[in-house]
Parts: sequence; structure tokens; C-alpha cells
Amino acid sequence: MDQSVRSDETGAATGSAAGRRGPAARPRVVLEGVGKEFPSSGGHGLTVLDDIDLVIEDREFLSIVGPSGCGKSTLLRLISGLMPPSRGRVLVDGAVVTGPPPDVGFMFQRDTLMPWATVAQNIGLGLELNGTPKGAHEARIAELLDLLGLAKFRDFLPAALSGGMRQRVALGRLLAYAPALYLMDEPFGALDAMTKMAMGRELLRIWSRYDKSVVFVTHDIEEAVGLSDRVVVMAAHPGRIVSEYVIDLPRPRDFRAVRLLPEFRALCETIWRDIGVE
Ligand SMILES: Nc1ncnc2c1ncn2[C@@H]1O[C@H](COP(=O)(O)OP(=O)(O)OP(=O)(O)O)[C@@H](O)[C@H]1O
Ligand SMILES: [Mg+2]
Repeated sequence: MDQSVRSDETGAATGSAAGRRGPAARPRVVLEGVGKEFPSSGGHGLTVLDDIDLVIEDREFLSIVGPSGCGKSTLLRLISGLMPPSRGRVLVDGAVVTGPPPDVGFMFQRDTLMPWATVAQNIGLGLELNGTPKGAHEARIAELLDLLGLAKFRDFLPAALSGGMRQRVALGRLLAYAPALYLMDEPFGALDAMTKMAMGRELLRIWSRYDKSVVFVTHDIEEAVGLSDRVVVMAAHPGRIVSEYVIDLPRPRDFRAVRLLPEFRALCETIWRDIGVE
């Protein structure tokens, strides 16, 4: 894991993903003709994803929206190497994915905290995984606990937390791990509006400052438009990409203030209509 690349701030905060990329940048993720089938009770395979072609650029913030069951989580699992595609190829950083690729962090839709470890220890796991020196753990954990509003709960076990609190711990662990590619499956789903706003701002800050790539799955179209360079819309049965929108709203972008722009409203309306007709 290359810390010098992670902390490179030269490509910071302004412009689209394309504008911030160097001329020879390689796509972060490529899906070519990807299909996924699961066995179904009738003996025939259930086609969950059909013929997905998608390129996610280096430093791009891409959101995926679509109805429940259209295959969003499955798509993230294929990128993260947790399961193989039935057809086609998935590449991360130019290499065909056959298992979890290096420097990729996954925040699952259902939190996967270590039940025996405290809030602080769960977050610290991200620092252990990325090789942060032990001496720096305490300060970074304290910073993240403050950010996530969890300072008072640092020694609690996950079983004693609410759903939204557990989601914040999982987010803290991912932010601590700080991979080059963030795969996030409805990471703000269980958060209240105020916390969601704070987390959105933090994610944008980290993304723009440290040149991360993010694939962000959400049901919330305003969240997708507010955060992203591009929003991909999926439909179900079989799961497929039906449209995509380049979000050319100014950067750096305030996750709340951007919602007041007429272009923001117009984009959200168009995407709503897209989902509505499917
Ligand atoms: N391991 C599995 N075995 C069999 N079927 C599966 C498996 N994982 C997912 N599916 C099926 O694939 C379809 C897509 O599931 P997936 O979880 O990817 O949808 P999603 O778009 O993430 O939905 P949601 O918005 O509700 O999270 C569903 O019909 C689901 O039942
Ligand atoms: Mg899902």
C-alpha cells in the first residue's frame, strides 16, 4: 500500500474526474459484458445482472441508483472479488479480479462489525489493515470518533449500539482504512438527516483531498447527485444499466448548499422520471 500516492494532494478539489486525471490515467474499474446468475428453486438460473458494461475512472465519484433487487449489491460484490461473474470480466487497476483486490475497501449494506471488539477497536482495525504505525492509532481513532459523534461510546460493544451508530462505526473503519477505491453499499441508509449531512461532507472532503475513487450505492437520488461525478441508473429483472448522467455541478461542492441550485433539482427530477418509468 503506497502512502505517498494516498496522500498526494496535487489533484485536489476542483473540476470533473476527467479534468483531475492525468492524460495516461488508467480506469480504476472495468466491467465488460458482465452477467451474474444465481441458482433458483425451479432449477433454472436467476439472471440477476445482464450484460453490464461500465468503466469507473481513477478519482471518479460514481453512484449507482435503482430499485430494490436490481443487483446493486451484487455488482459491488463482483468488483470486490467476493464472488465471480457468470459471464464477462471485472478488472480493478488493470488486473482481472479473482479475489479481493489490494487497496479496495468495502462497506457492506449490513454492518459487519466484530461483535467482541469495542467501537474504538473496530475502527482501529482499519488502521491495522493499512499498516498505520501503532503510535498514530490513538489520535486517528479519537479524530474519527469525534467526527462520527461516537466519542462517548468508544468502549461500547456493537450489540449495545443502535443501527445508525453501528453504521457510523463501519464508516469509521472504512475511513480509517483509507483505501484507494471505496465500495460503499448504502452507507448512509440508517443515519438521521443531520449525521448524513456531516458524513456526506466528510466523504467529499476525503475524496477530493486524497484522490480516492468511490462507487456509492444508494436509494437516495439527491444524495447520489449531491456527491457524484456520474450517476448510473439500474433497472431490475434482469439487473441492467438503463441510463447514466454526468453531474456537472461545480466542485468543490457543498453537500447541502448544492441542493439549492436549479440544475441540481432538474437532474434529480430527470433521474426520478427514469426510475419511475422502469
Ligand atoms: N447469494 C445469492 N444467492 C441467490 N440469489 C441472490 C444472492 N444474492 C443476491 N441474490 C438475488 O439477486 C437479486 C439482486 O440482489 P442485490 O442484493 O444485488 O439487489 P440490490 O439492488 O442491492 O437490492 P437492495 O436495494 O434491496 O439492496 C435479488 O433478487 C436477490 O434475491
Ligand atoms: Mg443492496
